Amino acid sequence: MRQLFNPVFLIQFWVLATFAIKNPIIPGWNPDPSIIRVGDEYFLATSSFEYWPSTPIYKSKDLANWQLYSHAFTRPSQAQLYGVPTGAGTWAPTLSLVDGKYYMASMTRWTYDPVARVWPRVMWVSSHDLKTWIWGIYQCEVNVDSGRCIGEYRSLWNGTLPHNSSARPEGPKIFKRDHWYYLLIAEGGTDDLHRASIARSASPEGPWEAAPNNPILFNGAYGYDNLTVQSTGHATLFDTPEGESYVAFLARRKINGTSPLGRETFLAPVQWKNGWPIVNGGQPIRLTQSFGNATDQVLPPKPFTDNFDRANLDPSWYQLRIPYTTNFMTKGNGANGITFKPNVFGLSDRDTPAAILRKQTSLNMTFSAQLLPTNSGLGYGETVGISAYLSELQHQDIAVSGCVNSTGMCIVTRLMMNTTTEYDQVRLNSTSIASDMTLHIRAEPLSYTLGYSFGINGTKHWLKELPSSWLAFAPTNWFVFEGASFALFATGTGQPWPPHAPEVGFSKVTETYYEEDIPDYDKW
Ligand SMILES: *[C@@H]1O[C@H](CO)[C@@H](O)[C@H](O)[C@H]1NC(C)=O
Ligand SMILES: *[C@@H]1O[C@H](CO)[C@@H](O)[C@H](O)[C@H]1NC(C)=O
Ligand SMILES: *[C@@H]1O[C@H](CO)[C@@H](O)[C@H](O)[C@H]1NC(C)=O
Ligand SMILES: *[C@@H]1O[C@H](CO)[C@@H](O)[C@H](O)[C@H]1NC(C)=O
Ligand SMILES: *[C@@H]1O[C@H](CO)[C@@H](O)[C@H](O)[C@H]1NC(C)=O
Ligand SMILES: *[C@@H]1O[C@H](CO)[C@@H](O)[C@H](O)[C@H]1NC(C)=O
Ligand SMILES: *[C@@H]1O[C@H](CO)[C@@H](O)[C@H](O)[C@H]1NC(C)=O
Ligand SMILES: *[C@@H]1O[C@H](CO)[C@@H](O)[C@H](O)[C@H]1NC(C)=O
Ligand SMILES: *[C@@H]1O[C@H](CO)[C@@H](O)[C@H](O)[C@H]1NC(C)=O
Ligand SMILES: *[C@@H]1O[C@H](CO)[C@@H](O)[C@H](O)[C@H]1NC(C)=O
Repeated sequence: MRQLFNPVFLIQFWVLATFAIKNPIIPGWNPDPSIIRVGDEYFLATSSFEYWPSTPIYKSKDLANWQLYSHAFTRPSQAQLYGVPTGAGTWAPTLSLVDGKYYMASMTRWTYDPVARVWPRVMWVSSHDLKTWIWGIYQCEVNVDSGRCIGEYRSLWNGTLPHNSSARPEGPKIFKRDHWYYLLIAEGGTDDLHRASIARSASPEGPWEAAPNNPILFNGAYGYDNLTVQSTGHATLFDTPEGESYVAFLARRKINGTSPLGRETFLAPVQWKNGWPIVNGGQPIRLTQSFGNATDQVLPPKPFTDNFDRANLDPSWYQLRIPYTTNFMTKGNGANGITFKPNVFGLSDRDTPAAILRKQTSLNMTFSAQLLPTNSGLGYGETVGISAYLSELQHQDIAVSGCVNSTGMCIVTRLMMNTTTEYDQVRLNSTSIASDMTLHIRAEPLSYTLGYSFGINGTKHWLKELPSSWLAFAPTNWFVFEGASFALFATGTGQPWPPHAPEVGFSKVTETYYEEDIPDYDKW
């Protein structure tokens, strides 16, 4: 009792009870999490689609604070993503550790084009250190005992939904606990009906008995489709060294009906009753819930800055598809800046433009990029700028370019809504790009706003605002499985970059994060 009156104890208790593990545990689009514990460390892999390098692996010691650790596919021969559309590429990894060796089952899909229909291909890779992956590809069912391809295709379980094309049982994870084998699957497609269901069997070959409380995770159930957290599913169950159980899964944060950050990685506690898991006490997941006694997450996070002063890019930058020529260079050797070698391709092409992208990790932040100065002007089509990017069909750009219909340089904005593109320009009144020219994207839950300033702290001139829902939908006949990223890009817009055009690039990127006060219910 006496201890309760000790103020230090009270403060610690308050801190532990208030913070701890907060969702999403890995903000920004990181769907299809597969998690394993190795001793007291956790590793978690997620899907990356057409982004390169492919299949990020994150690491944590406390489940609350995660660092990007490695990527499973870093050489084009491992996962060929030439020309893949948004939503295709590398999908749904499953990590496992058997006898000191890591295995990853994953798959790639090249296209949805009905005349060149390519089914997902399953591949199986292994590594001793999670950093160097040996590549293999198989087109058959994997035996869960040996991890090897087996001759016969055997149907394990069709899930809990009526067996039609919207049931989509997928993302299977098999694990053993006590004397049961469990088969945990995602169902309902990855949108609002997404859920996790489980079955168990005394043998890894079945027969499988479905849990009485399926789906074990489904925020849309029981009329709770008004919650911010939706599309909960594609789960992995795991235990802490203390024997507590958790589930890692994907979910969307719905902001007035759409989710600009796509599917993020979430966590929830699990209790066991009669040999069946109960997620979050059988209650839906609320965004403001937090769990466990982990180290506090620092929220909002400290700003991210990148001066590009090292030879290699920070690993949180991606390119699109497979770069087959070097199209950027960091100055390195302590000098600041990244320069691009622009090609004919831009962000709207199913190719690799001279662009690097970082996932948008907060619903309330500013992305700012200072341009490198040039010694001459840009001609028509010669463009360097930044973008709030979802896909080749949806990106919102602000850039410096040769003006349309007149000489000189302009600050241009290009907004892509559903099948329409809105172009606008403001004269720059200068014959070259000045060293303090900075472009900004202010991202808020409901909107993106594009602007510029001279100097990172100079007055910001906001040119265009558009609803965030334009970065959060799949155009008709397309699948968009990613969430928003921010891009730095340069392009000749369908033309090669002329030899007389100046070298272009950026000297510094700053991301500033603000508090994210997102309600439990999707009411705005
Ligand atoms: C799942 O459905 C397929 C197609 O209807 C059927 O062939 C298979 O036997 C079913 N599997 C199980 C385990 O019921
Ligand atoms: C599949 O079955 C469910 C439940 O009967 C139904 O709601 C859904 O529309 C069906 N989907 C298709 C594609 O037939
Ligand atoms: C959300 O839906 C639930 C279940 O239908 C209902 O009880 C609750 O009042 C709703 N909450 C809000 C804030 O709309
Ligand atoms: C929410 O979305 C609807 C369209 O679905 C739109 O009419 C409304 O203005 C949006 N609300 C806010 C606060 O942006
Ligand atoms: C959290 O603290 C409680 C009470 O001290 C303890 O029982 C539990 O094991 C702790 N959980 C973790 C994940 O450390
Ligand atoms: C350029 O000129 C064409 C033809 O007059 C016009 O249709 C177009 O809107 C102009 N574009 C801009 C950005 O001024
Ligand atoms: C986009 O346009 C198509 C065709 O007009 C329409 O069917 C679809 O509903 C629109 N989508 C959105 C999100 O506005
Ligand atoms: C360039 O000058 C025009 C006309 O005075 C002005 O409207 C525009 O804002 C100026 N551009 C910039 C980038 O300041
Ligand atoms: C911009 O403002 C921030 C915060 O006040 C300060 O830390 C930074 O040094 C300023 N940068 C420049 C280039 O003035
Ligand atoms: C976003 O950050 C701004 C600036 O700190 C703050 O005023 C606003 O309330 C925040 N919005 C949300 C939704 O948290």
